[in-house]
Amino acid sequence: MDEIVVRYIHFIGILFLASTLAIENVLLSKSMSSQSIKRLAVVDGLYGVSALVTLGAGLTLWFAVGKPSEFYTKNPIFHAKVGLFLLIALLSIIPTVFLLKHRKTTAANLSVPQRIIVIKRLEMLLLLVLPLLAALMARGYGLPSS
Ligand code: HEM
Repeated sequence: MDEIVVRYIHFIGILFLASTLAIENVLLSKSMSSQSIKRLAVVDGLYGVSALVTLGAGLTLWFAVGKPSEFYTKNPIFHAKVGLFLLIALLSIIPTVFLLKHRKTTAANLSVPQRIIVIKRLEMLLLLVLPLLAALMARGYGLPSS
Protein backbone atom coordinates (compact mmCIF):
# COMPACT_ATOMS: atom_id res chain seq x y z
CA MET A 1 0.00 0.00 0.00
CA ASP A 2 2.83 2.41 0.93
CA GLU A 3 4.40 1.76 -2.46
CA ILE A 4 1.15 2.61 -4.28
CA VAL A 5 0.86 5.92 -2.40
CA VAL A 6 4.49 6.86 -3.14
CA ARG A 7 4.15 5.88 -6.83
CA TYR A 8 0.99 8.00 -6.98
CA ILE A 9 2.86 10.98 -5.48
CA HIS A 10 5.74 10.38 -7.94
CA PHE A 11 3.28 10.53 -10.86
CA ILE A 12 1.46 13.62 -9.53
CA GLY A 13 4.87 15.32 -9.17
CA ILE A 14 5.73 14.37 -12.77
CA LEU A 15 2.34 15.63 -14.06
CA PHE A 16 2.82 19.02 -12.38
CA LEU A 17 6.47 19.13 -13.47
CA ALA A 18 5.53 18.65 -17.12
CA SER A 19 2.51 20.99 -16.93
CA THR A 20 4.36 23.87 -15.27
CA LEU A 21 7.26 23.49 -17.72
CA ALA A 22 4.83 23.56 -20.65
CA ILE A 23 3.15 26.71 -19.25
CA GLU A 24 6.55 28.37 -18.80
CA ASN A 25 7.41 27.58 -22.42
CA VAL A 26 4.13 29.07 -23.65
CA LEU A 27 4.45 32.22 -21.50
CA LEU A 28 8.10 32.92 -22.35
CA SER A 29 8.78 35.39 -25.12
CA LYS A 30 11.53 37.76 -26.21
CA SER A 31 9.81 40.81 -24.76
CA MET A 32 7.61 40.53 -21.67
CA SER A 33 5.58 42.89 -19.51
CA SER A 34 6.39 43.17 -15.80
CA GLN A 35 3.08 41.43 -15.03
CA SER A 36 3.91 38.46 -17.28
CA ILE A 37 7.35 38.18 -15.67
CA LYS A 38 5.70 38.06 -12.23
CA ARG A 39 3.27 35.36 -13.42
CA LEU A 40 6.13 33.37 -14.95
CA ALA A 41 8.09 33.60 -11.67
CA VAL A 42 5.10 32.09 -9.80
CA VAL A 43 4.82 29.21 -12.32
CA ASP A 44 8.59 28.69 -12.04
CA GLY A 45 8.19 28.40 -8.25
CA LEU A 46 5.51 25.70 -8.73
CA TYR A 47 7.86 23.95 -11.20
CA GLY A 48 10.53 23.88 -8.45
CA VAL A 49 8.05 22.47 -5.90
CA SER A 50 6.95 19.77 -8.40
CA ALA A 51 10.61 18.80 -8.94
CA LEU A 52 11.10 18.45 -5.18
CA VAL A 53 7.93 16.30 -4.82
CA THR A 54 9.03 14.08 -7.75
CA LEU A 55 12.55 13.79 -6.31
CA GLY A 56 11.30 13.03 -2.78
CA ALA A 57 8.92 10.30 -3.98
CA GLY A 58 11.61 8.92 -6.35
CA LEU A 59 14.17 8.67 -3.53
CA THR A 60 11.55 6.97 -1.32
CA LEU A 61 10.87 4.40 -4.08
CA TRP A 62 14.61 3.89 -4.42
CA PHE A 63 15.54 3.46 -0.75
CA ALA A 64 12.44 2.86 1.35
CA VAL A 65 9.52 1.10 -0.38
CA GLY A 66 9.02 -1.35 -3.25
CA LYS A 67 11.90 -3.26 -4.84
CA PRO A 68 15.27 -3.61 -3.01
CA SER A 69 17.48 -0.55 -3.56
CA GLU A 70 20.17 -2.64 -5.40
CA PHE A 71 17.65 -3.19 -8.21
CA TYR A 72 18.12 0.50 -9.05
CA THR A 73 21.63 1.15 -7.73
CA LYS A 74 23.10 -1.54 -10.04
CA ASN A 75 21.29 -0.31 -13.15
CA PRO A 76 23.10 2.19 -15.44
CA ILE A 77 19.79 3.09 -17.11
CA PHE A 78 18.50 4.18 -13.69
CA HIS A 79 21.67 6.28 -13.20
CA ALA A 80 21.10 7.85 -16.62
CA LYS A 81 17.55 8.72 -15.51
CA VAL A 82 18.71 10.35 -12.26
CA GLY A 83 21.60 12.09 -14.08
CA LEU A 84 19.24 13.53 -16.69
CA PHE A 85 16.91 14.77 -13.97
CA LEU A 86 19.85 16.47 -12.22
CA LEU A 87 21.00 18.00 -15.52
CA ILE A 88 17.52 19.48 -16.06
CA ALA A 89 17.54 20.78 -12.47
CA LEU A 90 20.96 22.41 -12.98
CA LEU A 91 19.89 23.97 -16.31
CA SER A 92 16.75 25.37 -14.69
CA ILE A 93 18.81 27.39 -12.21
CA ILE A 94 19.72 29.91 -14.97
CA PRO A 95 16.11 30.92 -15.88
CA THR A 96 15.11 30.82 -12.19
CA VAL A 97 17.88 33.26 -11.22
CA PHE A 98 16.84 35.53 -14.13
CA LEU A 99 13.19 35.50 -12.99
CA LEU A 100 14.04 36.09 -9.33
CA LYS A 101 16.18 39.04 -10.35
CA HIS A 102 13.52 40.63 -12.55
CA ARG A 103 10.21 39.64 -10.94
CA LYS A 104 9.94 43.05 -9.25
CA THR A 105 10.86 45.03 -12.34
CA THR A 106 8.93 48.24 -12.89
CA ALA A 107 9.95 48.54 -16.56
CA ALA A 108 6.95 48.33 -18.92
CA ASN A 109 8.76 45.80 -21.08
CA LEU A 110 11.67 43.54 -20.32
CA SER A 111 13.72 41.85 -23.01
CA VAL A 112 14.40 38.18 -22.24
CA PRO A 113 17.83 36.88 -23.39
CA GLN A 114 17.65 34.18 -26.06
CA ARG A 115 19.59 31.74 -23.85
CA ILE A 116 16.76 31.72 -21.26
CA ILE A 117 14.26 30.69 -23.95
CA VAL A 118 16.63 28.05 -25.40
CA ILE A 119 17.27 26.54 -21.95
CA LYS A 120 13.52 26.23 -21.22
CA ARG A 121 12.94 24.53 -24.61
CA LEU A 122 15.87 22.19 -23.92
CA GLU A 123 14.52 21.25 -20.46
CA MET A 124 11.26 20.23 -22.13
CA LEU A 125 13.07 18.09 -24.73
CA LEU A 126 15.23 16.36 -22.11
CA LEU A 127 12.20 15.71 -19.89
CA LEU A 128 10.60 13.75 -22.76
CA VAL A 129 13.38 11.14 -22.56
CA LEU A 130 12.91 10.45 -18.84
CA PRO A 131 9.73 8.29 -18.91
CA LEU A 132 11.36 5.99 -21.50
CA LEU A 133 14.38 5.44 -19.22
CA ALA A 134 11.96 4.93 -16.29
CA ALA A 135 9.89 2.30 -18.12
CA LEU A 136 13.06 0.45 -19.20
CA MET A 137 14.73 0.39 -15.79
CA ALA A 138 11.48 -0.55 -13.97
CA ARG A 139 11.41 -3.74 -16.05
CA GLY A 140 15.05 -4.52 -15.32
CA TYR A 141 16.55 -3.52 -18.69
CA GLY A 142 20.13 -2.42 -18.11
CA LEU A 143 20.71 -4.75 -15.15
CA PRO A 144 23.88 -6.87 -15.48
CA SER A 145 22.77 -10.45 -16.29
CA SER A 146 24.13 -12.85 -13.67
C1 HEM B 1 16.01 11.89 -9.21
C2 HEM B 1 14.73 11.79 -9.46
C3 HEM B 1 14.01 10.48 -9.58
C4 HEM B 1 14.22 9.31 -8.91
C5 HEM B 1 15.24 9.00 -7.83
C6 HEM B 1 13.23 8.36 -9.42
C7 HEM B 1 13.09 7.05 -8.99
C8 HEM B 1 12.12 6.17 -9.41
C9 HEM B 1 11.91 4.83 -8.90
C10 HEM B 1 12.78 4.15 -7.84
C11 HEM B 1 10.85 4.30 -9.57
C12 HEM B 1 10.24 2.90 -9.36
C13 HEM B 1 10.53 2.00 -10.57
C14 HEM B 1 9.91 0.61 -10.41
O1 HEM B 1 8.71 0.47 -10.54
O2 HEM B 1 10.68 -0.32 -10.18
C15 HEM B 1 10.37 5.29 -10.51
C16 HEM B 1 9.33 5.12 -11.39
C17 HEM B 1 9.02 5.97 -12.41
N1 HEM B 1 9.58 7.21 -12.63
FE1 HEM B 1 10.98 8.12 -11.48
N2 HEM B 1 12.48 8.97 -10.40
C18 HEM B 1 12.93 10.27 -10.53
C19 HEM B 1 12.44 11.23 -11.40
C20 HEM B 1 11.54 10.97 -12.40
C21 HEM B 1 11.13 11.89 -13.41
C22 HEM B 1 11.58 13.35 -13.50
C23 HEM B 1 10.27 11.23 -14.26
C24 HEM B 1 9.55 11.69 -15.50
C25 HEM B 1 9.64 12.81 -16.08
C26 HEM B 1 10.12 9.90 -13.75
C27 HEM B 1 9.32 8.94 -14.32
C28 HEM B 1 9.01 7.73 -13.75
C29 HEM B 1 8.05 6.79 -14.30
C30 HEM B 1 7.21 6.98 -15.57
C31 HEM B 1 8.06 5.68 -13.45
C32 HEM B 1 7.22 4.39 -13.60
C33 HEM B 1 7.99 3.36 -14.40
C34 HEM B 1 7.17 2.12 -14.61
O3 HEM B 1 6.62 1.57 -13.64
O4 HEM B 1 7.09 1.69 -15.77
N3 HEM B 1 10.91 9.78 -12.62
N4 HEM B 1 11.16 6.43 -10.40
